Amino acid sequence: MTDPSGARFRYRVLFVCLGNICRSPLAEGIFLHLAREAGLSERFHVDSAGTGAWHVGNPPDPRSREVAGKHGIELPGVARQVHPKDFDAFDLIVAMDRDNRRTLEKLRSGEEGRAEITLLREFDPESSDDAEVPDPYYGGPDGFDDVFEMVRRSCVRLLEELEEGRRG
Ligand code: 4NP
Repeated sequence: MTDPSGARFRYRVLFVCLGNICRSPLAEGIFLHLAREAGLSERFHVDSAGTGAWHVGNPPDPRSREVAGKHGIELPGVARQVHPKDFDAFDLIVAMDRDNRRTLEKLRSGEEGRAEITLLREFDPESSDDAEVPDPYYGGPDGFDDVFEMVRRSCVRLLEELEEGRRG
């Protein structure tokens, strides 16, 4: 991870869901936590955003904060909406479900940005490539435990792939 002059740069990862209060803040917090544990946090700039604007300015959903807290992870930030400049400001944009990915691809059409768009569970060793992180917003708290586990498994592999230089 060096630029042409040899200096270190930060690889920029944006996690995206619909509301930016449940799944993508969890993915952001988990990825950062794993990067810190691996001593790699300085190599990454990590953020999250929603394709919708309903929750802009709100903190993560209490159920996401609770499940993260059980694993010693604090969730940073307040919700924001994806912006066309994100396609230039990030190297990799990681969607939680196929709807998010479709919206991102539409938003990108005509933009110059070079960000790659992918699905988070493409990295889940326990799932097929097209699997989604289901929206837990209208379900019970168990949904958040399931989401936590699939996001964690996927982020472990994503971090490994970025570290090994298979991406970026
Ligand atoms: P998220 O979950 O996309 O994981 O943040 C949702 C949060 C809010 C809504 C939908 C999904 N909503 O319809 O308000």
